Amino acid sequence: SFQKFPRHLLSIRDLSREEMLKLITRSAEIKHDYKKRFANRENVQLGGLEGQNVAMIFNKRSTRTRVSVETAVNTLGGNCMFLGKDDIQLGVNESFYDTSKVISSMVAGVVARVNKYSDVANFAQHASCPVINGLCDTFHPLQALADLLTIQEAFGTFKNLKLAWIGDANNVLHDLMIACAKAGIDTTIANPKNVEIRSDILNLVRESSKETNAKHIISHDPAAAVRDADIVVTDTWISMGQEAERQARLKQFAGFQVTEKIMQLAKPHCKFMHCMPRHPEEVSDGVFYGPNSLVFQEAENRKWTTVAALEALVVNRGNI
Ligand code: CP
Ligand code: NVA
Repeated sequence: SFQKFPRHLLSIRDLSREEMLKLITRSAEIKHDYKKRFANRENVQLGGLEGQNVAMIFNKRSTRTRVSVETAVNTLGGNCMFLGKDDIQLGVNESFYDTSKVISSMVAGVVARVNKYSDVANFAQHASCPVINGLCDTFHPLQALADLLTIQEAFGTFKNLKLAWIGDANNVLHDLMIACAKAGIDTTIANPKNVEIRSDILNLVRESSKETNAKHIISHDPAAAVRDADIVVTDTWISMGQEAERQARLKQFAGFQVTEKIMQLAKPHCKFMHCMPRHPEEVSDGVFYGPNSLVFQEAENRKWTTVAALEALVVNRGNI
C-alpha cells in the first residue's frame, strides 16, 4: 500500500503485524541469498542505494548496530557515514531540529542512536528522509527484528512459544515485548522489585496483541517466569547512561543472574538469547557460551534484518 514519505522506524509499534512478519521473511531471504552467492563466489551486492548515502548519528557507543548498518548499506550499494558525538555540532553548538533539517536534506536515510526517545522522535518529525532508531532510552527496534529472525530460525515458527525475560525493564525489553505480542509469542517477565515496566509500554503491548491474543505475565520471580519457557532472554542491568548507578543496581538485581540452574527450570533444550554487549553478572559463562545459546547467531542477524529494514524504508520508500 502507498505510504506517506518519509516513513520512520522508531519502534516496532510503527509496523503492523503483517509488515513486521514480511520484514522477517525478507531478512531470511536476503541472508540465504547472500550466503549462497558468497559460497559460489558470485556478486553479493543487492543494490538499490547506488549513489546514495545513509548517515549514522551516534551519541552512544556501538559495535553491532554500527557494523550491521555500515555493512548493510554497502550491500545495498550505498555509502554510509558515521557521525559520532565529537564529529558534528549536534548537542554542543546545534539543536536536533537544525541538525535534522540539514543532514536529511543531503542523505537518503538516517540511523540515529541518541539518548531520549523525544529527541529521536523530534529528529524524525523534521527530517525529509526516513529515520531509523538505532536505540534510544525507550526502544530498540532493529534488535527486536533480529531477535524474531533468530527465533524463527531456531523454532521454524512463532506459534506455541513462550519467551521468558529475566532482568531490567528497558529499551530492549519494550520492543521485544511489542514484537512478541505482534508475532503471537507469549511472554513471561521477571523484573526485580521496584523495576516496573512503564504503563504506556504495557498499553502498547496490549494493543499489539489484539490480532494474536498473545499473553504476557509480569512478576518478580525468575524461577516462576522461566517455567516451560522455550527461550530465556536477558540484557545488561546497567544500560548506557546508567553507569553511575552501577553499585546500587548490582544490589537491586541480586538473584537475577541467568544460570544453568535457572535454565534447568525451563523446557529441555530451552534457548538463550542476549542482545549483547554482555556482562557476567546477568548471565553465567556456562549459559552464555553454552550449546543452547543463540547469542552469536542473534548478533549476526542484526545485519540481515537491517538490510531488510533499509531496503523497505529507504529503497522502497516505506512500502513494506
Ligand atoms: N545489541 C546492540 O545494539 O549492540 P551495540 O550497542 O554494540 O550496537
Ligand atoms: N539496554 C542496553 C542495550 C545495549 C544494546 C543499553 O541501552 O545500553
